[in-house]
Amino acid sequence: MKILLLLALFAQAERVNPLASRPDALPGGAKLFKQKCAMCHGEDGRGTSKAPDLSRDELQALSDGELFQKITGGNVRRDMPSFSNIPELQRWQLVLKLRSLVKAH
Ligand code: HEC
Repeated sequence: MKILLLLALFAQAERVNPLASRPDALPGGAKLFKQKCAMCHGEDGRGTSKAPDLSRDELQALSDGELFQKITGGNVRRDMPSFSNIPELQRWQLVLKLRSLVKAH
């Protein structure tokens, strides 16, 4: 059972963003971010006292699939809600939005 769960998680982490070459999907992701994420992560995604900065290098180093997984599963014990209730393609739009937050060096 545990192994199946691990395999399922691994499979999710390996997934490729179906919208990766669709910059036209970004505005939708930005809108969703504003509605569902900004209250904790800040309008600019750079974090607030409630939630971490999403432009950080460590986070941007994750694969699209891993970001998708974090959005889907959340971390309820640490106050990051699960967003498995929003349609998959919208979650991928959010991944695009997170990619757009890369810190200026
Ligand atoms: C109620 C507040 C809240 C909302 C709303 C929220 N988050 Fe979070 N988020 C958190 C907290 C708190 C953490 C840190 C959890 C932890 O320590 O693991 C987090 C962590 C994350 C992480 C992992 C960050 C890391 O450093 O590992 C990602 C990615 C993320 N959130 C994306 C989103 C997205 C995208 C949305 C909107 C769909 C969203 N969050 C909405 C509170 C929130």
